[in-house]
This record gives sequence, structure tokens and C-alpha cells, in this order.
Amino acid sequence: MSHKINATFNNRPLTAEDGTTVGAALMANGVTSWRNTRKEGKPRGLFCGIGVCFDCLVEVDGEPNQRACMVRLTDGMRVNGAVTDTAEKEA
Ligand code: FES
Repeated sequence: MSHKINATFNNRPLTAEDGTTVGAALMANGVTSWRNTRKEGKPRGLFCGIGVCFDCLVEVDGEPNQRACMVRLTDGMRVNGAVTDTAEKEA
């Protein structure tokens, strides 16, 4: 039997069924893109969903460059969108 777990994305609450990936949890919470490409600043989120394309990179509990589609969300996990050069310039 599954139950809800709580985490954060960019310091905002993220709730999902236990057993989902970070990527699935983000999508279920209405987050469809969470980083920008370096050169053109285009939004990226889930693309292949199976760990091949590396479009879905996030920081998980301080570890950068984790594939959101391959990491299982755990209770209390802190997820952050990947910061790119473009994003830093826009901030
Ligand atoms: S969506 Fe392609 S590696 Fe995660």
C-alpha cells in the first residue's frame, strides 16, 4: 500500500506517492521544466524518462547532476533545479 511522502523543490513543498521518481513527482506537482540549456537558455525537464538523454538533471540533497527520472523521491529529500550559466545571468 502506497502513502504520500513530502519533499521540497527549490524550497517549496513537493508531495508525491511513495515509490515515484523525482521526475514523476515534479510533473505530478505541475513542474514541467526545472533547468535551462547552457547556450540558449531553453527549458528542460523530462524527455526520455528512462535515463538516456540527461535533459532532466537536478540537484538532490546537495548532489548535482542527478537524473530526475532515475532517482526515487524519498521523504524529506531536497531537490533543486539545476543552475546554469544562463540562469545565473538572469537572476
Ligand atoms: S528524462 Fe532523459 S535522462 Fe531523465
